[in-house]
Amino acid sequence: AEALLGDGPLTGRRIVVTSGPTHEPIDPVRYIANRSSGRQGHALAAALAALGAQVVLVSGPVAIPDPRGMAEIRRVETAREMQAAVEASLPADAAVFVAAVADWRAASSADTKIKKRPGEPPPPLSLVENPDILRGVGTGARRPVLVVGFAAETADLLDHAKAKLAAKGADLIVANDVSPGTGVMGGTRNTVRLVSAEGVESWPEMDKDEVARRLAAEIARRLLERTS
Ligand code: CTP
Ligand code: CA
Repeated sequence: AEALLGDGPLTGRRIVVTSGPTHEPIDPVRYIANRSSGRQGHALAAALAALGAQVVLVSGPVAIPDPRGMAEIRRVETAREMQAAVEASLPADAAVFVAAVADWRAASSADTKIKKRPGEPPPPLSLVENPDILRGVGTGARRPVLVVGFAAETADLLDHAKAKLAAKGADLIVANDVSPGTGVMGGTRNTVRLVSAEGVESWPEMDKDEVARRLAAEIARRLLERTS
């Protein structure tokens, strides 16, 4: 049990972690979502806590158990709720954005269930862009010392990841190929590349729990390097 009490290299450090998908309502019974299970984000939150960090987990709707050792869990549904919960969790020493945030939401959400009208065309669905939570924090006034993002890609992985590193003000982007054949979205394994100012580091395929443990160690190393 002592191991769970979390004395380690991250003791005393506050770290905000986002995880899971977001759900964007269309009407009271329908929403826009994605295939994220929350496994990688929850595993990373647990791994950071195991190194002693005070972890605030901001989680979208997931069907997996709460990770062990969280200081706080804020449950949200939409991207805008996730952004508000992240902002309310600052200041922090580090922020890690693992969530698969829906890029768009319905321009308006109906108060009552939208009904089929036989013989008529389907209702139009117009979308508006959600706030970029990572970019807001990475380029904002209350930026944590260490900001880490993920990049879910299906093509041109490294080019996109490098562009995100710069555009979002991140110190590190964990790039993963989420093409259908990989089974990463919703699955238990992951193959990642670490993209930072120092270059690119490719890791072999492993369990998301193992990716989480190694990333937690990497985050601890980078945070201590900057604050000691
Ligand atoms: N992210 C975020 N808020 C958003 C969209 C993305 O915080 N509205 C974060 C994710 O949590 C992730 C990183 O930004 O850490 C990259 O997300 P990704 O979906 O790969 O990139 P986008 O910038 O949304 O671009 P695209 O989906 O077009 O590749
Ligand atoms: Ca996106």
